[in-house]
Amino acid sequence: MIHKKGFIVEQYHMPCEYWLIFTIGVVAMELNLKGKNALVIASSQGLGKAVAEALVVEGANVVITSRDEVKLQQVQEELTRVNKGHVVFFKADITKQEDIQSLVRFTVETFGSIDILVNNAGGPPGGKFEEITDDQWQGAFELNLLSYIRLIREVLPEMKQQGGRIINIASTSIKQPIPGLILSNTFRLGIVGLTKTLAVELAPYNILINTVAPGRISTARTQHLDRLNAERQGITLEEATAQSKRTIPLGRYGTPEEFAKVVTFLVSDASTYMTGSSFMVDGGMVTAI
Ligand SMILES: NC(=O)c1ccc[n+]([C@@H]2O[C@H](COP(=O)([O-])OP(=O)(O)OC[C@H]3O[C@@H](n4cnc5c(N)ncnc54)[C@H](OP(=O)(O)O)[C@@H]3O)[C@@H](O)[C@H]2O)c1
Repeated sequence: MIHKKGFIVEQYHMPCEYWLIFTIGVVAMELNLKGKNALVIASSQGLGKAVAEALVVEGANVVITSRDEVKLQQVQEELTRVNKGHVVFFKADITKQEDIQSLVRFTVETFGSIDILVNNAGGPPGGKFEEITDDQWQGAFELNLLSYIRLIREVLPEMKQQGGRIINIASTSIKQPIPGLILSNTFRLGIVGLTKTLAVELAPYNILINTVAPGRISTARTQHLDRLNAERQGITLEEATAQSKRTIPLGRYGTPEEFAKVVTFLVSDASTYMTGSSFMVDGGMVTAI
């Protein structure tokens, strides 16, 4: 099969040994993100920032947000240099309902509508079951599940009018529990249940919702977890990182940009028939089917 720009061309071996080349379909992959309005949560660094950048590069208008105004301003300046889409920032703590309401109101007032919501948050603390306190359980619920629920609830009145895309960033712990990460292993599964249920409830409004699960993508969070691992085992950070990479068939951590491309595809017009699904971006790390 030969891929040409906008076409799939197939070659058939003919009995008389002639190659016939003919077009069997036009598959122009138009992302159509130019002018779309996106709200990307937890986007001052890491995966959220990479997703925001990928959307801006495609010409979307993006609200970036986190708790840190200084970082947000830097990211806004950095992304504005990309100069296709439009980037604005809004400081919000997504564990606070009133911040979520203000954030969504700001987005609608600034851009006029919301086409895309990318739910994301900081990671919960690591630890085994007997090490985790009630406060940590409550905190992880509020940060890693309740914030997603509240954000979806807030954007729905707007999104139901014209359709839209929702991405919930989770973790490969939704497929394969990660040792020492009981909070992630528990609450990320709630995201999958939420996503799958809402796929049905929101389909009549042409709102597609999916979960995207990073495996080991190079960010501050991955470094933090490698450091924890190193401390637990009494080995160096380099050894812990090498050990972790050996569990990945592709033999390396992913880049935030590789992760962001998957999200960008899913929120674009190139993806129109997938909803309620979970997508692993993990270099083959998850062995579960
Ligand atoms: N990287 C990976 O390979 C990987 C793998 C599996 C799962 N994940 C999960 O994917 C998510 C993103 O990962 P990452 O690697 O990008 O993490 P990261 O580099 O630690 O970034 C976390 C982001 O969350 C923001 N944040 C944290 N608490 C917040 C709050 N209460 N309100 C608003 N924003 C908040 C932070 O901004 P401020 O500090 O500025 O508020 C920051 O922008 C995390 O939940 C992580 O556990 C990542």
